[in-house]
Amino acid sequence: MITTDEVCNVLKMTEEEKYDLLKTVITDYERKENNLIQILHMAQAIFGYLPVEVQYFIAGQMDLSVSKINSVLTFYSFFSTQPKGKYTVSICLGTACYVRGGKDVLNKLKSVLGIDVGFTTEDKVFSLSVMRCIGACGLAPAMTINKKVYKQVNPNKIPMILGMLK
Ligand code: FES
Repeated sequence: MITTDEVCNVLKMTEEEKYDLLKTVITDYERKENNLIQILHMAQAIFGYLPVEVQYFIAGQMDLSVSKINSVLTFYSFFSTQPKGKYTVSICLGTACYVRGGKDVLNKLKSVLGIDVGFTTEDKVFSLSVMRCIGACGLAPAMTINKKVYKQVNPNKIPMILGMLK
């Protein structure tokens, strides 16, 4: 069975080698639909995201419909069909953050970055996502950029926070 560690060198792989590795992963998981989530995780580790070509490849190898693959991808927020930027900006829209202005922060992020949730800026620097409670409710609204947590985020601070990362 191939482990996540064994796919850490994928950046050096050609597209053909990546598809070969994915085929091995699918074979290791016995092409069983029950293992689809693990296979998708490995595919995302190999390709960085799950573009439609990869979805078609998995569907073909597993004898599943592409709509089945897509329904799993859209159900779980940890799967991405878009390439990720250098920084992933995630705004919390859990109850506490939502009522304390999380939506306003999200709207500001959308307007400053010029992208919608689930997308990446053209320069591949920022991706935008939303998440549920991260345990910082007392200092809502909260957001994260990669692993760093930002608390009591004010929409007016967004340009400065993002600007410092560029
Ligand atoms: S609801 Fe956002 S941190 Fe808890």
